[in-house]
Amino acid sequence: MCGIMGYVGKKNAAPIIYEGLKKLEYRGYDSAGVALLQDGFYTAIKCSGRVEELKKRGALNLSGKIGIGHTRWATHGAPTPENAHPHFYGKFAIVHNGIIENYAELMHECLERGEKFSSSTDSEVIAHLLAFYDCGNFLETVKKTVRRLRGSYALAILCSDFPNEIAVCREKSPLVLGVSEDGVRIASDLPAIASESKTVYVLRDGEFALVGQKKVSFYDQEREIQKEGMTESFASQNFSRGKYEHYMWKEIEEIPTAIDQTLRNFKVNFCFSGLCEVLCQTEYIEIVACGTAYHSGIAAKYVFEKLARVKTNVSVASEFRYADPIISPHTLVIAVSQSGETADTLAAAELAKQRGAYVLAVTNVAHSSLTSIADRVLQTYAGTEIGVAATKSFNAQLSLLFSLALELAKAKGMSPNLTLDGFSLLSRQVILSLNKIQEYAEEISKANHVLFIGRGVDYCCALEGSLKLKEISYLPSEGYPAGELKHGTLALIDEKTPVIAILTRRELAEKTMNALCEVSARGGKIYLFTTLPEYAEREEIYRSFLLPSCEELFSPLLAVIPLQALAYFTALKRGNDPDKPRHLAKSVTVE
Ligand code: M6R
Repeated sequence: MCGIMGYVGKKNAAPIIYEGLKKLEYRGYDSAGVALLQDGFYTAIKCSGRVEELKKRGALNLSGKIGIGHTRWATHGAPTPENAHPHFYGKFAIVHNGIIENYAELMHECLERGEKFSSSTDSEVIAHLLAFYDCGNFLETVKKTVRRLRGSYALAILCSDFPNEIAVCREKSPLVLGVSEDGVRIASDLPAIASESKTVYVLRDGEFALVGQKKVSFYDQEREIQKEGMTESFASQNFSRGKYEHYMWKEIEEIPTAIDQTLRNFKVNFCFSGLCEVLCQTEYIEIVACGTAYHSGIAAKYVFEKLARVKTNVSVASEFRYADPIISPHTLVIAVSQSGETADTLAAAELAKQRGAYVLAVTNVAHSSLTSIADRVLQTYAGTEIGVAATKSFNAQLSLLFSLALELAKAKGMSPNLTLDGFSLLSRQVILSLNKIQEYAEEISKANHVLFIGRGVDYCCALEGSLKLKEISYLPSEGYPAGELKHGTLALIDEKTPVIAILTRRELAEKTMNALCEVSARGGKIYLFTTLPEYAEREEIYRSFLLPSCEELFSPLLAVIPLQALAYFTALKRGNDPDKPRHLAKSVTVE
């Protein structure tokens, strides 16, 4: 959360920082700021609201060829201009992504020295410490300062004594540097620098860099280090919204490609991964993830157990890490994360590794932090996902995890006669039929409360459909196992409560239908999403959306798509921006 940006080079820094921040806005968008250093003096603009506010307040007119900027997702302190970054103290200006856990203790020291604070953030204390530890050597000052910090940080730092350099460092928050002919760009994520960069460097935990106009020098705590840059063509990566009004819809339309690319690459990557042997020995699987990635884990559990008969547990990463988890021998821990930067998932993966598990990372981002923790990585190929609400990455995760389930079954001596071929094409078919979801959204947008239910593997879609709706339409909703309604939640049903049901498993259909009859008898309106035409026709059903018939166990790959669309259209009907839901950010790099 929070996006940081920096530039030092031949060009005016303000427009470059501004454009970079716009591309990082998915990481946080409640306040923003920029500071430039020229002739030993800082000029800065900070504001509440989105990055665009900076432009309205004249940020593009600031002059200087070196500067830093920030788009914020508030952790400590409200989203006010005072709390917006950069923060200043003495000669120093800083932008920070992360949380300083011991800020109160550090702040106390500063206050005892008589220093005054201008914000109520945890971050400002870093600028104070830099001033305190200032030894005339920029790098040493930064090193001394960060030794005092506990928590997570990616930092870009200016010092007026060093008018041509930015110091950067990171611990558990991402940072990339892009070198081009005109100078060097620093950012929390690749989209902000990709189109201009010839070589990109990924900073790792515990590393520092001094960034000048022509040269970047890297260091660890002890010495200068050499780092390998990536020189592939980043410009060709498509981060733009193109003809689409929202990233979310663009990304829903990219689902067929996400499935196709993930399945293709899986075949090759799995062959060379050495995972076959690991799977043979695996006796127990623990999946750790958050949010949408957790829901892909729920689907995977059903499929792993059904196809390979390997006992699987799925844990929310933040619960796993504090539950003192028991890792028995031959446990495979699968950490699933689109971004590969989610703080709780990283911590869960690290803990699992410490306790002797073999850790497999499933992530969409090739050089993310998760990849450096895991023993092995299998990448999903959804392409960059910018919309805060995860869509295509979920389908890509399912594609990968289902493929892995087939390999696991083979490794366990079974020969499942199932295939994922054709799912990309079928998903295209579903997308072409999404228009009618707009009518549903019109009705659902007026509800006060929505229930999503499903049984077996359909349950993961109930959870995911409900999360999507909450996240971008702000409608209270719950995802429930269909059979569990009668144990309490049925009391919520009345004629104003839409019930979204997912029904794709023939062997479970009658059981789910029982629950739907109970809902209908109490006046609830049932919106059925099913692959089974005979159930779509039943009189208890208020509206039905027919999904193409497919291999039942893998049906979430298709069934989730109209639910993603439902959330999207409902958000629009309620006047919300689906790409930037309130209080949220794409990448949750704080705990
Ligand atoms: O990058 P990750 O997959 O680790 O992110 C996990 C969750 O933060 C994420 O899925 C979140 O729940 C989405 N915004 C849901 O749409």
